[in-house]
Amino acid sequence: MTDLASVDYFSDHAISQDPYAYWDHLREQGPVFQEPNHGVYAVTGYAEVVAAFKDHDSFSAVNAIGGPFPPLPFEPDGDDITEQIEAHRHLFPIHEHMVVMDPPAHERARSLLTKLLTPRRLKENEDYMWQMVDRQIDQFIDNGRCEFLSEYAKPFATSAIIDLLGVPEQDRPEFLAALGVEERHGSRVGALDGAPVGRDPLQYLDDKFAGYLAERRREPREDVLSGMATARYPDGSTPELIEVVKPATFLFAAGQETVTKLLSAAVQTLGERPEYQQLLREHLERIPAFIEESLRTQSPTKVDFRLVRKSTTLGGVPLKAGAVVMLCLGAANRDPSKFEDPHAFRPDRKNVREHIAFGRGIHSCAGAPLARVEGQITVRRLLDRLSDLRISESVHGPAGQRSYAYDPTFLLRGLTELHIEFSPAT
Ligand code: HEM
Repeated sequence: MTDLASVDYFSDHAISQDPYAYWDHLREQGPVFQEPNHGVYAVTGYAEVVAAFKDHDSFSAVNAIGGPFPPLPFEPDGDDITEQIEAHRHLFPIHEHMVVMDPPAHERARSLLTKLLTPRRLKENEDYMWQMVDRQIDQFIDNGRCEFLSEYAKPFATSAIIDLLGVPEQDRPEFLAALGVEERHGSRVGALDGAPVGRDPLQYLDDKFAGYLAERRREPREDVLSGMATARYPDGSTPELIEVVKPATFLFAAGQETVTKLLSAAVQTLGERPEYQQLLREHLERIPAFIEESLRTQSPTKVDFRLVRKSTTLGGVPLKAGAVVMLCLGAANRDPSKFEDPHAFRPDRKNVREHIAFGRGIHSCAGAPLARVEGQITVRRLLDRLSDLRISESVHGPAGQRSYAYDPTFLLRGLTELHIEFSPAT
């Protein structure tokens, strides 16, 4: 039995497999509570997480991904450490990506992405997904079973971003291979988190996009990449090439693993709760709420971090400049003061869309519309084409005694494998 008062959230395996009782325990101590192992302030209250996201003056995003790791590269001095952060920014992990930037640099970086994610582009991308979903299902439907992450979710999520960015058709197989996604009966996906893929995928992406964009700056064409290559900042100035490359390549880091986790959580629920299969087939209009409730109950980004830039208070707790704050999205989304019966999966709850799985404020997820559509299309087509979708008992055990493994990380929540069985729909 885990001792919740002393457990180390960042390294405890059991908590990584099921963080929910731990978060409830923290919230009982208070919505903002300093955990004892790393001195990190864990924020588990919905209202407090939202307040911190919105107050980007007091809270810097510079440590958004790593939190207390690595430790601060300086000794915080005084009640406003803005200058210290700026002097050491280059020492923070992934400092060149927008998710850890603060205004005004963040606004400039995000403006380039906004130019890519236009309603028109998202619609074209959605049309592509409708074709892709069938191609992907064709690969395994005759087998009557599949490992959902490798055979569907990962290749689907990766291909969606490749298409969004307008990677030329002939280069797409090379991209998938470099990102470790097999197109046919995909076995392993390395994505961007360090699994062996033969070459460094981040470097590969940077090099490829630098090549595409440089070429299109010289000779613009009628394609998505040319639109990116010629994008300007709001003040009319031209970004350095690398400043356009980074927002493009970051989409792979932000949108592959997270979407894979969302899709597998939704399909796991379809398998565990077969009543939803028929309900959603009969009421297609309820699929969006089903996806929202999947995001709320199994928030793929479990936590997000902030560094207190100016001494402040949150939820009545004084926070000194330099303190590390952990915004527990997965906990806020199960805060009973916001969501009634919070641990229950209830897509018909009135405030089902008010979860904060995509964050809030200036850094809120730029890919949220895309992720939502990916979820909705996936559930829709699986229900169209498969009947009697069930969890594989030979792998996960019988109902009521299932065994599932989740990624053993403190950052993301998601299954490592999901084996399902089904019959092709007649
Ligand atoms: C279910 C899937 C997804 C989840 C749960 C998710 C979650 C999040 C969260 C919580 C943030 C805020 C980080 C912070 O405030 O520190 C974020 C930011 C971001 N996400 Fe997503 N995301 C998902 C899918 C995607 C996709 C598909 C893309 C793009 C293709 C994407 C692109 C981004 C970008 C660019 C940012 C940084 C925004 C900024 O810093 O201004 N995400 N995401």
